[in-house]
Amino acid sequence: MTKVIEAASSEDYRRLAKQRLPRQIFDYLDGGSYQERTRFGNQQALAAIKLRQRVLRDVSNIQLNTRLQGLSQAMPVALGPIGLAGLMARRGEVQAQKAAVRQGISFCASTVSLCGIEEVAQAEPKRPPWFQLYVMKDRDYVLRLMQRAKDAGVSTLVVTADLAVLGSRYRDIRNGFSGPQSVRKRWARFKDLLSHPRWVYDVAVKGKPLVFGNLNEAVPDARSLPQFKQWVDAQFDPSVGWADINWLRHNWHGQLLVKGILDTEDAEQAIRAGADGVIVSNHGGRQLDGVSPTINKLREIRLHLDQSLPSAEFELWFDGGIENGLDVIKALALGADGCLLGRAWAFALAAEGQAGINNLLQRMQEEMRVAMALMGETDIKGLGTHNIEQQ
Ligand SMILES: Cc1cc2nc3c(=O)[nH]c(=O)nc-3n(C[C@H](O)[C@H](O)[C@H](O)COP(=O)(O)O)c2cc1C
Repeated sequence: MTKVIEAASSEDYRRLAKQRLPRQIFDYLDGGSYQERTRFGNQQALAAIKLRQRVLRDVSNIQLNTRLQGLSQAMPVALGPIGLAGLMARRGEVQAQKAAVRQGISFCASTVSLCGIEEVAQAEPKRPPWFQLYVMKDRDYVLRLMQRAKDAGVSTLVVTADLAVLGSRYRDIRNGFSGPQSVRKRWARFKDLLSHPRWVYDVAVKGKPLVFGNLNEAVPDARSLPQFKQWVDAQFDPSVGWADINWLRHNWHGQLLVKGILDTEDAEQAIRAGADGVIVSNHGGRQLDGVSPTINKLREIRLHLDQSLPSAEFELWFDGGIENGLDVIKALALGADGCLLGRAWAFALAAEGQAGINNLLQRMQEEMRVAMALMGETDIKGLGTHNIEQQ
């Protein structure tokens, strides 16, 4: 294996994260559902897309900046929601917020973060985070969370729609990370944690409290993550429907994005229900294994929305398998307005904390700049299918 002195790519950060994290936590982050065909399919499909090289077009001045979600963005990228990011590094969500703001982009905090939304927002109030919401059975608590997000300054609410029930993740089952906890499982997990003393010191000692910071009011007696998890597992609501999106729209006056869209009709319905945009996503291949890679659905969804809602204003976001700046360029050329990073930023966080995310984002920005130059493009907003080789 090549020795990594300095991480050059997301794959390098993945390898460093694997060394640094206890096995059960690395597998929780890296894994997908069932046989992980969609999880790795997302990356393979992006890799299969060929960019079009153009030359001699004066590329001395390249613009990556754009305006999305009412804010100027140094590049059309945001850090997507990753549950339990605080297990990757000490107060991980705070580190992600600081890195994102420093690089001129937004961070989306998950409902199931370790740091509560207030702690994340206060870490870098210049640019409040987005907040990702699961519509849980306890609708009063959902309203309470929305109020907390609003009070913390959040202006974009991301409603995740592809988790009505939970996809089974084989790695988590094997590692005893999910399911009922027997003494044997608990002991095996404990040994795994102890064999990573650097992680224990950084996260379990210095990163306290290890609780779900957004759910503290829902389960006030919970003292440990498994106790919170029990509540969360019981709160997934398979009855959630479009009426709930209408209800959320009625109760949220900021930007509203629906995440987990992989179908043209669902995309249209989301905008008709009042969403300001959709995020084309298959949850990083962690839910329905066997669905199409997200990049293969993106163009179709863009065309459908443009045709069926010609006068609607909406943003089309994309995630799934993005490892570098070239992947972002491909998604933008196929119709995305912006891209969310998933595992890529969490690997960097696990490997090197905030500095790792900063480095990853700077490298991505540079990769995008170089790709644009070699494609003969100067403005990121001008990318389109003319930048892709037709196969
Ligand atoms: C460990 C992990 C936790 C996640 N937690 C959430 C979450 O809490 N809420 C959510 O909407 N999506 C969650 N996702 C999905 C990501 O937001 C995103 O859709 C996905 O990771 C994109 O794929 P990529 O990791 O291949 O880039 C999670 C993904 C991972 C890998």
